[in-house]
Amino acid sequence: MDDTVTWWKFEEVATFMKAGFEAVGVPSEEAEVCTDVLIAADKRGVDSHGVGRYKPIYLDRIWAGTQLPKTNFEIVKESPTTVVIDGHNGMGHYISKRAMEMAIEKADKYGLGMAVVRNSTHYGAAFYYPNMAVERGMIGMTTTSARPSIAPTWGVEPMLGTNPMTWGMPSDEAFPFMADYATSVTQRGKIELYDRLGKDLPDGWVIGEDGKYRHDTHQVLVDLTKDKAALTPLGGLGEDLAGYKGYGNAMVVELLSSALSQANFMKALMGVKDGKPAPIELGHSFLAIKVEAFCDLAAFKHQVGEISRQLRASRKAPGAKRIWTPGEKEYEVYQYRKDKGVPFNEPLKNAFRAVKERCNLPHKLPF
Ligand SMILES: NC(=O)c1ccc[n+]([C@@H]2O[C@H](COP(=O)([O-])OP(=O)(O)OC[C@H]3O[C@@H](n4cnc5c(N)ncnc54)[C@H](O)[C@@H]3O)[C@@H](O)[C@H]2O)c1
Repeated sequence: MDDTVTWWKFEEVATFMKAGFEAVGVPSEEAEVCTDVLIAADKRGVDSHGVGRYKPIYLDRIWAGTQLPKTNFEIVKESPTTVVIDGHNGMGHYISKRAMEMAIEKADKYGLGMAVVRNSTHYGAAFYYPNMAVERGMIGMTTTSARPSIAPTWGVEPMLGTNPMTWGMPSDEAFPFMADYATSVTQRGKIELYDRLGKDLPDGWVIGEDGKYRHDTHQVLVDLTKDKAALTPLGGLGEDLAGYKGYGNAMVVELLSSALSQANFMKALMGVKDGKPAPIELGHSFLAIKVEAFCDLAAFKHQVGEISRQLRASRKAPGAKRIWTPGEKEYEVYQYRKDKGVPFNEPLKNAFRAVKERCNLPHKLPF
């Protein structure tokens, strides 16, 4: 961590962010949810999807008029176990939290519950929603579409979003099983983080129109929005390392997120219309599975924990210090950060200074 970093307590960051959201017209209840989802990411070290996106994604879009600060949460179609929601280009975190709550309530009654959403907006780090199910003794799953950035295997044109498919399961360990990642080798948030740190991209993440790797972080961020650069799918370039499996999974996410809810998909999510910034109206899916509809919850948690423990205790590669299981690193980051808060580097400090000024907030910044 560089010495220009200032740590700011989570509760104080939250108070500031909520006030900023409210200043741009987000109702208090929604502002609270949006703030909580963003800070939850920083608590676990998912800095690519935390407060670093507060201004550049959410506030800037509201200021540009491409995202509505007040959500109209419409239930379009509902059955005892399913629901289709239209978010009408409102606040993605709030829409998603309510959609997951509905899936959980249905699962609590009938064993399974699923919500799909159309016309939502960026919902942040996906783990937040499966974690809600985990806290109720359920398995949780979510998918979301995103602005096109992954090229299909043998292609160079960004077509599919980074499209995470995130699963969470309760465990008898101190942290749940949480497999939370994009279906690309990397994702835009991490490239933005590299940009904030002034670092070049490594091989394997991004290809140019010639199909070769690119390393010029800042320009890649521009070119990704202009169809001139593309992310590689999980597995990487070509077929040797099975990039087509990541490509297939990204398609599963696009289909689950858009076809059931009849949401926009792929190129309709570019955020540009007639050369001008336009809304990016995304689709999501949320699934909740009540463990007790299948087996004893304690027995399930024990088995999740046991599988994780056995994997971590298995033989290590020469030189490797440790085997991890999904969800573990985030738990350890939280142990480190819980009393410190969010690390603010210079670009993040500047973003918050700009919000304070533009929203005319009386709050004191610690930098
Ligand atoms: N909303 C969107 O449009 C969108 C799009 C893409 C990604 N995201 C979010 O971005 C965040 C980061 O995504 P990412 O693709 O960069 O994730 P990542 O590559 O950082 O992987 C993180 C996941 O891998 C696990 N993990 C890490 N090292 C491991 C190891 N050695 N062994 C076992 N498990 C390990 C972690 O516990 C975690 O579940 C996620 O929260 C994701 O939901 C959101």
